[in-house]
Amino acid sequence: MKEVSGANWWRQAAVYQIYPRSFSDSNGDGLGDIKGITAKVPYLNALGIDAVWLSPFYPSALADGGYDVDDYRDVDPRLGSLADFDEMTATLHAAGIKLIVDIVPNHSSNRHEWFKEALASPKGSAARDRYIFRDGKGLNGEFPPSDWESIFGGPAWERITEPDGTPGQWYMHLFAKEQPDFNWDNPEVRADFLKTLRFWADRGVDGFRIDVAHALTKDLSEPLPAKADLLAENETLDGTHPFWDRDEVHEIYAAWRDLFNEYNPPRTAVAEAWVHADRRGRYASPEGLGQAFNFDLLQAAFDAEQFREIITRNLAESEITGASSTWVFSNHDVVRHATRYGLPKGPGRNGPAQAWLMSGGKEPALNRELGIRRARAASLLMLALPGSAYLYQGEELGLHEVVEIPDTDRQDPAFFRNPGVDIGRDGCRVPLPWTTEGIAFGFGDAAAHLPQPEWFSAYAVAAQQDNPESTLSLYREALRLRSSLQTEEQLKWLNHPGDSVLHFIRPNGWQSVTNFGSEPVELPAGTVLVSSSPLSKGKLPADTTAWII
Ligand code: GLC
Repeated sequence: MKEVSGANWWRQAAVYQIYPRSFSDSNGDGLGDIKGITAKVPYLNALGIDAVWLSPFYPSALADGGYDVDDYRDVDPRLGSLADFDEMTATLHAAGIKLIVDIVPNHSSNRHEWFKEALASPKGSAARDRYIFRDGKGLNGEFPPSDWESIFGGPAWERITEPDGTPGQWYMHLFAKEQPDFNWDNPEVRADFLKTLRFWADRGVDGFRIDVAHALTKDLSEPLPAKADLLAENETLDGTHPFWDRDEVHEIYAAWRDLFNEYNPPRTAVAEAWVHADRRGRYASPEGLGQAFNFDLLQAAFDAEQFREIITRNLAESEITGASSTWVFSNHDVVRHATRYGLPKGPGRNGPAQAWLMSGGKEPALNRELGIRRARAASLLMLALPGSAYLYQGEELGLHEVVEIPDTDRQDPAFFRNPGVDIGRDGCRVPLPWTTEGIAFGFGDAAAHLPQPEWFSAYAVAAQQDNPESTLSLYREALRLRSSLQTEEQLKWLNHPGDSVLHFIRPNGWQSVTNFGSEPVELPAGTVLVSSSPLSKGKLPADTTAWII
């Protein structure tokens, strides 16, 4: 049995990500809120998850969906209050569910009091030193300090107006211009994040998800290299890139670990670090954050060989680092996996899904049924793997990506900064359907902040909860079984590379078989516990996973 309390609860946990503004709206303003989450704790309990990871709920102008934080130690008044937060935490804990919150340390929002102070203070001041300010190039400093581009498109530098009204210095922002990067060489920045971590840990938060954990420390010594001379993120980096995955970043996490270990049980953390697999273990070490997301399955096609290679490699890595593996198919940054798997195979984070989104859902054609069938098979396989499973709200309903969002309703900066090139991530952030009818399908009493399509009705919780064949019932059953079957022990493959079937067994006899091929295959002897699609004459059909004991 996996450990559900004590220091190691996180190692084999099923963690459910809530994007708070799109989960449940308790006060009818169209925006999900903290009380809405508290009201749905019975739903989370029935689902059978071990922990909730809450995306940012802090005060924010929502220039990047809340990842632009105005104040790290408060709740956005539109989402509730600190008292509401405490009530939610207590309700989750009473249901045996842990709470992980998102920490965004690479950048604040441009409305953070420190950034406002920096703008109001002179060049070279202590207030400016908390961020990354540089003089521009050119005779009058009219050109940015380097040609680097931000992740959301456009330059990574923004020019400010000095307090005296003249055009002034430039500040660096790896993401939107509303997200100025902190200067992590500044001791005040380091101290303030320790204060923030302590603030939430003292309130009973069990763990932290660290946003862009690989970008904090930077070497911006002059001359700044040109964009063309920089390796791209995710290539094999060796710690010498000016801002991605520098070795010194781990000094920060060692200090955080000391703080986490002052608590009983120690607070946990998981790094969002889009680094090469070889360097991921540094973030996941017990002296550091303890765990790091592995986005390999999320980027793979529905393909037996790719899955086998990724699973084998990651489990081997976790043996070396001592961290448990993490598995994830969907989150708030990528096209939902039901949709990815209903489109032709292709490489990359979103593969052909990007083209599908850009064409308004026309090209290439989406096979909705196939996508859901494969997503169910993949999720059932994932839930049988050793390590933690990270689930994203709505995947338990088999939700597809929403493509029908008018441009005027879109919110993601990736859309605004890359006209005609990137549609952004709003399609996986549309508020959940709870009921089959109503102005917002039970999300709240007002139209949701991102429009929900008509087809959401059929995916609503109310439409699925009493149907044993539904995706919601599959997740509930799988999570229920997993909570008694999951252990720390590794798996053993029972078939051969090259097969279109993946079959593995855990030391307690728990087997998972997935048919990635097109023809039904024989199942091994034993009792079928659950299957992602009905068996066909006792055989395992195409695109299906079954658990056997
Ligand atoms: C992470 C978040 C993403 C956000 C970015 C900047 O990648 O997951 O949603 O836009 O960081 O904070």
